[in-house]
Amino acid sequence: MHTRQLSRLDRLIDQAQRAMETVLGAPLAERANPGQHEPDVVLDDDERRHAAGLMRINHVGEVCAQALYCGQATVARDPATREHLLHAAQEETDHLAWCGDRLRELDSRPSLFNPLWYGGSYAIGVLAGLRGDGWNLGFVVETERQVEAHIDEHLASLPAADARSRAILQVMKADEARHANNAEAAGARILPPPIPGLMAAASKVMKAVAYRV
Ligand SMILES: [Fe+2]
Ligand SMILES: [Fe+2]
Repeated sequence: MHTRQLSRLDRLIDQAQRAMETVLGAPLAERANPGQHEPDVVLDDDERRHAAGLMRINHVGEVCAQALYCGQATVARDPATREHLLHAAQEETDHLAWCGDRLRELDSRPSLFNPLWYGGSYAIGVLAGLRGDGWNLGFVVETERQVEAHIDEHLASLPAADARSRAILQVMKADEARHANNAEAAGARILPPPIPGLMAAASKVMKAVAYRV
């Protein structure tokens, strides 16, 4: 009995720690920043602001992905699904750290609403997870596909000279595609309408806000 309670407590502490690190701390990447060998071209003010707005959106996207996967993992029934989710969340940590690095280089900062984005996404993750593991993985697929699509938009919209942001986004895009494929292979169900539409609408609001603050 004690072991079970302890492991539950451990998990809770681990989750709280992850949340704090994601929102407040400087998460450590396991892989090197893909932009580090690209020239750090000085952008003019408008370009710099635009690039920072886009990278702030990407940073928020990664905060949401972390929160979603942690929320889902908390209630996942099958240990294999839980592992899958926590592993995906771990890989998003690299993305989060790289976007944070790039924001600093652009003399900007992450979204002020990160605690809110985290809390909302965590709640959605828990709700999705309560529907069962097929749904859990279905949410991963839908999230990753939507992130992949907005990365494509950003790659087209970034200032031409911003090779550092571009290098980061290219690696992220490849990772997100792999995350979606893995979740599909692990037995994701296809989410019924209106869920994908609602997720797209929520992410549109997030993008509009995060571009500015
Ligand atoms: Fe990511
Ligand atoms: Fe991902």
